[in-house]
Amino acid sequence: MRCLLTASLVVAGLAGNALSHITKGDGPVRRRKTLGFGPEHPHAVFHSSPYQIQTNGFMPMGPDVDPLVVAERFVTDILGKQLSESMSFKIRKDSYTDKNTGVSHVYIRQVVNGLEVADGDMNVNIKDGMVISYGNSFYQGSVPAPFVNIDTELVAHPHRDYCDLLTTELETRVNEVSQFSGEQVVLGKHTSARVEELAHIHASNCRHQNLPYEVPMSFNAVDDIADFRPALLQFMVAATPNDEVVNDILGNFEEHVNKMVVTPSDHFAPSGDSIEFTVGRVPDTVSPVKVKMAYIQVPSKKGDVMHLNLVWKFEVEMQDNWYETAISATAPHRIISVVDWASDAPIPEPTTPEPATYNVFAWGINDPAVGNRSVAKENFDILASPVGWHSIPYVNDPLFRGVRLSKRKPFFRNTTTTWGNNVFAQENWEGQNSYLNNYRPDGGKDRVFDYTYNPKFTNKTDAQDEAQKYINTTVAQLFYTTNLVHDLYYRYGFDEVAGNFQQHNFGRGGAENDAVIANAQDGSGYNNANFMTPPDGQNGRMRMYLWNTAIPYRDGDLEAGIVIHELSHGLSTRLTGGPANSGCLGWGESGGMGEGWGDFLATTIRSNKEYSDYAMGAWAANRDAGIRNYIYSLNETINPSTYKTLDKPGYWGVHAIGEVWAELLWVVSQGLIKKHGYSEDLFPPKPLEDGSVPEGDFYRPSTGSKKPKVPKHGNSLVIQLVLNGMKLQVCRPSFFDARDAIIQADQVLTGGENFCTLWEGFAARGLGPDAKVEGRTPWGGGVRTNGYLVPEVCRD
Ligand SMILES: *[C@@H]1O[C@H](CO)[C@@H](O)[C@H](O)[C@H]1NC(C)=O
Ligand SMILES: *[C@@H]1O[C@H](CO)[C@@H](O)[C@H](O)[C@H]1NC(C)=O
Ligand SMILES: *[C@@H]1O[C@H](CO)[C@@H](O)[C@H](O)[C@H]1NC(C)=O
Ligand SMILES: *[C@@H]1O[C@H](CO)[C@@H](O)[C@H](O)[C@H]1NC(C)=O
Ligand SMILES: *[C@@H]1O[C@H](CO)[C@@H](O)[C@H](O)[C@H]1NC(C)=O
Repeated sequence: MRCLLTASLVVAGLAGNALSHITKGDGPVRRRKTLGFGPEHPHAVFHSSPYQIQTNGFMPMGPDVDPLVVAERFVTDILGKQLSESMSFKIRKDSYTDKNTGVSHVYIRQVVNGLEVADGDMNVNIKDGMVISYGNSFYQGSVPAPFVNIDTELVAHPHRDYCDLLTTELETRVNEVSQFSGEQVVLGKHTSARVEELAHIHASNCRHQNLPYEVPMSFNAVDDIADFRPALLQFMVAATPNDEVVNDILGNFEEHVNKMVVTPSDHFAPSGDSIEFTVGRVPDTVSPVKVKMAYIQVPSKKGDVMHLNLVWKFEVEMQDNWYETAISATAPHRIISVVDWASDAPIPEPTTPEPATYNVFAWGINDPAVGNRSVAKENFDILASPVGWHSIPYVNDPLFRGVRLSKRKPFFRNTTTTWGNNVFAQENWEGQNSYLNNYRPDGGKDRVFDYTYNPKFTNKTDAQDEAQKYINTTVAQLFYTTNLVHDLYYRYGFDEVAGNFQQHNFGRGGAENDAVIANAQDGSGYNNANFMTPPDGQNGRMRMYLWNTAIPYRDGDLEAGIVIHELSHGLSTRLTGGPANSGCLGWGESGGMGEGWGDFLATTIRSNKEYSDYAMGAWAANRDAGIRNYIYSLNETINPSTYKTLDKPGYWGVHAIGEVWAELLWVVSQGLIKKHGYSEDLFPPKPLEDGSVPEGDFYRPSTGSKKPKVPKHGNSLVIQLVLNGMKLQVCRPSFFDARDAIIQADQVLTGGENFCTLWEGFAARGLGPDAKVEGRTPWGGGVRTNGYLVPEVCRD
């Protein structure tokens, strides 16, 4: 699960514990336990240069050839002799074509012995019959015999290796604290908090890591490949934050195994190529666990080759986490990888009621410190939200689930509460998972959401009650901000086929029934926020917290930057590696960028024409510098982050990595603004009656019918390039991969006119073409060299 600042089959949290030093003595600040690690893929590649592609001998096909056919031929060509009866691939159904750029994003899963290779991913980007880039992490070794697992003695133990390294790192860092705080860099002040962050990662991931050797003998001996129950229970021991549950599982292992209710899954493939179940009554879960047999790649002990390990893949939804994990199918049941998802008919004519109104901090006002409230209209975007924010089809409405609907009933119903097609917003003081019957304001038949916001100074005991008095205000604000972000991202290409969050998709493709569940004043924590992103077709869940950093308490729902950060987890997770793969931004550099995109987009949205520096979460945290190590600034004294900063102590947590990425993007974006100017409005123009979108002052004059629309100004262009880059990049991208994807996005959109501007931005902070990393680890470790050069053609 990613927080306020995290997300994918990922939950993201807003902050690591950057705030622990502020909140000390203010009562317990609950830190969410979260697991995240997995094997490195040294053989994985992202090729964004067509030359590399052509050396494989693949010839571009005609522009009219179906992209799926091109992809199939291309992959067949790349794999060549590797393909056999027992080694094949399948094109995933969540592949799609970007309407604006015309680029088809095709996602491919490797299949061995009829089972998916969980981390055997290819993404092939195709335009006009040409493969313009692709990523590949397919297993390349020989095919094992079916249903025989690898001898665990031969392969690395990713979990233990990870924990051993973390332990060493932690010990070293603890010893360094005194010297380090002497350094003049701002980090000094935060060093102890950073060590705490590392300690938290360690405590989350490394307790009970040796469990396969501790569970009762009767099960230790079990090597029944068809029985996943012991493996699942062992995962629960590692995953639960609750010691009582651990003791209960260990003390009553057999009872728990026998109590589980296993059901073959509905979508049991008719071809029999996948073995799937759901399991009920698993301790500490909040919904039945999904189970599937698969392979995963694990390095040999020496790390030189990859082996295929037969695993059970589980999707485990818990109160605070939503895990996708792979556990060895045979004993010892090792955890090999785990990602927390907690940082996707004929249409009747809709009738849209009169727009609602909300008394809110209007779009562009980041928080209560920088502006006052005013009455804003339900200014929905007709392309993104064709029926407005307060209409939802009965058939997609969870409040009508199980109700037989008469055929004569209208398809859509109008709501008068903060309940619509894109978001369900409500209080969640109890901090539980249920949301249907939680309180939400009712604006009446005219949908007027006009409430007071006037929190009073109280003593600490009463601060929470005082905040609850303006619940109407805060839920309305959360609903308003979330809908606007939905509409904004939609217009830049986060639409139904790309895996966006909507209950009903208007027949435009993609999986439905996945609006964002947005909980205001969620009682499960303080001083943070988080977002869980399961694959397309399952609701995202956002939890916003109160901040006890001041009296009156501050409410994260009222700070747009925090809400935008969270929603951006949903965006980056669904766009990277395809809508149905939420496991691509799990940890290390990839997970860090998942945080960084949120900070970058939040900062870009709040910024204005007069350049200034911005902190993240400053109001909620009651701290001018915000919740990151540095504020976002072009000034290297104020924000000295470079690529090499990732080597510094404490930069293993995703939030620290993320702020380096956000700073890189901030520098890049300012270069584009310098070149192309600044747009006051980030929303593209509304479509005309005939459905066409006018250029307005937003897009460049069009140059041909097949040419994509290009935002004219630097700040709108960078958002477009960043989103398009997410679609192009490989699953589990590195900084290099994400940078290359943005540069390719510009190639596709503008013919590469910003090639040098982009490189100059990246190189200014050490991510030029000569940047290097040695000994990269899956959690962000390694030794980096800054590269300040730009490509030859960009030098004077
Ligand atoms: C929703 O509101 C519109 C406009 O007021 C109205 O025409 C339509 O009938 C309403 N739909 C329902 C189901 O009440
Ligand atoms: C809000 O309005 C009050 C009263 O008009 C004004 O004094 C104050 O400066 C405003 N606050 C902000 C942040 O604009
Ligand atoms: C806090 O204030 C309330 C109301 O003014 C009062 O009843 C309560 O005793 C106070 N609590 C503490 C701990 O001072
Ligand atoms: C919320 O608004 C409703 C009216 O729509 C009102 O009855 C209720 O008291 C308000 N809740 C709070 C906590 O002020
Ligand atoms: C950068 O920030 C430092 C510290 O605030 C300041 O002294 C310096 O003048 C700034 N440099 C520029 C170019 O603005």
